Amino acid sequence: MTQTTATLDAANLKDWRFTVDAQGIATAVFDREGQSQNALGRRPLEELMTIVETVEAGARDKSIRGLIILSGKERGFIVGADVREFEQFNTEAEVEAGIKPVLAMLDRIEAMPVPVVCGIHGFCLGGGLELALACHWRIATRDDATRLGFPEVQLGIFPGFNGTWRSIRQAGPTAAMDLMLRANNIRATQARAMGLVDELVPSPLNLPWAARKAIERKRRSRVAGRVSTLMRQWPVRGMLANVMRKAVAKKAREDHYPAPYRLIDLFEKTGGNLKSMKAAETRAFAPLMVSDTSRNLRRVFKLSEMMKAQAPKDLGWKPLRVHVVGAGVMGADIAGWCVAQGMEVSLQDLSEEQIAKGIEAQGKLFARRFRSKPERDAAKARLVADPRGEHIPRADVVIEAIVEKVEVKQALFKGLETKLKPGAVMATNTSSIMIEDIAGALADPGRLIGIHFFNPVALMPLVEVIRGAQSREEEVRKGCAFVTAIAKFPLIVKSCPGFLVNRVLAPYMMKAMERLEKGEKAEKIDAAARQFGMPMGPIELADTVGLDVCAHVGRILKLAPDAKWASEGATPDAKWASEGAKPDAKWASEGANKDSSRLDKLVAAGKLGKKTGSGFYEWKAKGGKSKDLEPVKTDATYDKGELERLGRELVEPLIAEAERARDDGIVENADLVDAGIIFGTGFAPFRGGPLHYKATVADQAPAAAMPKQQAAAE
Ligand code: NAI
Repeated sequence: MTQTTATLDAANLKDWRFTVDAQGIATAVFDREGQSQNALGRRPLEELMTIVETVEAGARDKSIRGLIILSGKERGFIVGADVREFEQFNTEAEVEAGIKPVLAMLDRIEAMPVPVVCGIHGFCLGGGLELALACHWRIATRDDATRLGFPEVQLGIFPGFNGTWRSIRQAGPTAAMDLMLRANNIRATQARAMGLVDELVPSPLNLPWAARKAIERKRRSRVAGRVSTLMRQWPVRGMLANVMRKAVAKKAREDHYPAPYRLIDLFEKTGGNLKSMKAAETRAFAPLMVSDTSRNLRRVFKLSEMMKAQAPKDLGWKPLRVHVVGAGVMGADIAGWCVAQGMEVSLQDLSEEQIAKGIEAQGKLFARRFRSKPERDAAKARLVADPRGEHIPRADVVIEAIVEKVEVKQALFKGLETKLKPGAVMATNTSSIMIEDIAGALADPGRLIGIHFFNPVALMPLVEVIRGAQSREEEVRKGCAFVTAIAKFPLIVKSCPGFLVNRVLAPYMMKAMERLEKGEKAEKIDAAARQFGMPMGPIELADTVGLDVCAHVGRILKLAPDAKWASEGATPDAKWASEGAKPDAKWASEGANKDSSRLDKLVAAGKLGKKTGSGFYEWKAKGGKSKDLEPVKTDATYDKGELERLGRELVEPLIAEAERARDDGIVENADLVDAGIIFGTGFAPFRGGPLHYKATVADQAPAAAMPKQQAAAE
């Protein structure tokens, strides 16, 4: 029998379901109205407050013996606080005022005289984990879908619902700070080992029963032991803080991403006494929340959501089988990635040897992605060699990643279109040939779209879905659904030379090379770009991509430093990144004369960058176990102001091209231009994208070139 208490009219709750059973056990199920996932916004928090008051009253009059908190969503517990509502805070005072009642409510949950137990299945992140940490006992499912973590630093903040000290109290400073600083999600078993979770059950079906048992036994989570207390004492705490700063500095610069540094400061200053840490958390948190960095990172988060939303939900089409033609650099990795996301994949190439090599190379990805041998074996079994294309008629998606020659691609697709089943997607991974040129040879040209991955496939989150002038809209929509199904961000781009990402990158890199021609040092250029926030400088990037490829792209986009290429115009059948380590024969045979650019000369000499060990930089093994190469650099230092100025100048061509791409309407709107460039090039996420940066920076004079708000604050 189920009854509700008198103090709370459960029917008025929109985001929670609240019941009290005949044994006096209350259950609050979070099931946010109209949303596929639970996020802690204002209304759910207010409703939870009334639930807390009701349970307090029930505890007093002994009608309630305990509270169980569960999620009503199949896919997750709580994904965090509602990021959309963060924008309502304009000042630190507003942030402090907004957070105060939430902290008070969590304290009341913790102080509840009857046990409060939460049952976690699926994502339990950020504010969700902070709510869980205020409960007395935490039970999680062992299911692979259950993940716990604090993603806050990715949004330019740190846990602000008292998650800092509560996680340290439960897991000790090393493990808890590591979790907050890395912003990675951990499995339930790891969380149990750390002390963030108290009990594991096999499936969500076990949660209510296990929670009831925990209430009956009045279970209380144990806090971290004495070693943890010692680690928080001075001088160990100071030493730990320094180690953490060094580790963070390897990944993020303090001037670009202050949040992890402020979290370490907070721990260093107040971690010896968790009450002081609790009192200091909001004061340290509030300035981050209203900073430009956090606003921009939140924008990036929303842009990623916007890209995911490009995938239609009403298609009634679910891709499960993929056939990839071409087992080279791209094809093999595309196949491996699709397998890692659960698809069945067949891989075709002219040579069986190449297929075997491509399949073999996926072992690394599978080892990273799947921890158990049965999972890895299952993944290997899903990737099959198919030299004769026998699996084509079964495939839901066929992706071509063969040599970048229009007539070879045309011939391949002519053969493919007769074998494909109706409804299957037919896509090319070309990076420089116009989709229309390939489609021209087909009986049904409307069927062909581009699905353009970036190298390295496993690391690059963006995939451009190219809409040729002839492509049918339904095929584009299916392309987006496929990209989302393999956990990448789709961006619909109109067919045009360079599509979006290569189109904006090319002028940026070419201009940087021009500066090099004029005598600027490669190292200084790269340092300036990194100072701006680019993940890698343009000259190092050119060496990494391959100088033959750069010269070729310059040609396609009519940007090469040498004017003779500009007059040749774009050659749609020319090669792009597919050449591997071979110098482009054309370049090699043409040689270079004394008037040639440095890029020409290097290409002519077969010095193609990282892949040949020499380019603008010399490349040497990193040393240690790593066989990877890194550019040899001097330890020259440059004036910070000068680097800042140069950095801003370097990105100007990229921004200008982004504006042209927006004006040409090659993607749907300006936000999607920014999204594509951030996720396709790594453009300084904390600046919110090139167009947003341009719009929020007053002008290019050094003092005024800071984002408006920051400038105002100084
Ligand atoms: P790759 O040269 O490494 O591999 C191409 C593979 O296709 C080779 O193994 C070759 O044997 C095979 N092949 C050639 N003709 C074939 C045919 N008729 N049937 C079956 N297999 C055939 O080239 P890569 O770099 O993987 O590039 C492939 C495509 O991906 C190109 O269109 C390229 O523009 C595009 N791309 C390349 C990127 C890169 O960074 N390498 C990035 C994005 C797109």
